[in-house]
Amino acid sequence: MSQPLRHLLSIGDLGRAGIERILDRALSFAEVSGREIKKVPALRGRTVVNLFYESSTRTSSSFELAAKRLSADVVSIRASGSSVDKGESLRDTVETLSAYDPAAIVIRSPHVGAASLVAGWTEASVVNAGDGKHEHPTQALLDVFTLRQRIGPLEGRSIWIVGDVLHSRVARSNILAFQAMGARVTLAGPPTLLPRGIEQLGVEVTPQLDALADADVVYVLRMQQERMEAAYIPTLREYAQRYQINPGRLRPGQLVMHPGPVNRGVELSADVIDSAVSLIGEQVKAGVAVRMAVLYELLVGSPRLAAVA
Ligand code: NCD
Repeated sequence: MSQPLRHLLSIGDLGRAGIERILDRALSFAEVSGREIKKVPALRGRTVVNLFYESSTRTSSSFELAAKRLSADVVSIRASGSSVDKGESLRDTVETLSAYDPAAIVIRSPHVGAASLVAGWTEASVVNAGDGKHEHPTQALLDVFTLRQRIGPLEGRSIWIVGDVLHSRVARSNILAFQAMGARVTLAGPPTLLPRGIEQLGVEVTPQLDALADADVVYVLRMQQERMEAAYIPTLREYAQRYQINPGRLRPGQLVMHPGPVNRGVELSADVIDSAVSLIGEQVKAGVAVRMAVLYELLVGSPRLAAVA
């Protein structure tokens, strides 16, 4: 193994070998999650702090479960976005919590770069659980895990990411992760929601869904209205008419993913969400095992085939 990884701030911190190491370990932790007693002693006596300054259901609950299933002591703190608008108050909070000598701080913040700031203020390992519209690396890892489980290696596969790419930290991390694993990535959506210059990442970009049949996997993004300061689309109804992923737009054999929460009937039709082509439930399930593997990688980091039992 190369340099031990101290923080996970971006998918770029990992590279293909790092992604594979974490996902291989996640597979052992998925086995633990299938047991009646879903606990291993790996982080006994160590403390994990979850700091969520933005709303979250899946990410916060799965980080909490992941740390608990590794036997860590867990402190979970939630604050409304408005109380932490200044870097200084975030710093004060982190310094206060550092008095407990946590091994890891997991942070979600509406501000781009928040996790990397926190990494500069604490001795703990920092995990970025989403910083504004920048990155969400553990989401990308759990998505690659889910796909590997279902279709095997991603080498040469075509993945289309559809919708509000502009405001999506998931898109940014997933583009990097899918490409690192050898997939081809296409971004599709209204031109106003496709970041200018994003082709530089080596992705195809299109305002049309005409060639959607090319995709092995259709990764649908939520319309993130809370991040939209202006009118990027005429109405949600018109958006749905042109870009909603529904049975009429899919061909047999394609798989559909979404990071959640879904706006039913906007970016995805209800019948697709609840159908066998949807991997949404598997994505949520993968979240716990993958986050266990991330915490293990940062806090224990032993060789590839370390026993987890
Ligand atoms: C995403 C997020 O918060 O970035 N959700 C998640 O973590 N599962 C995507 C979103 O909010 O649309």
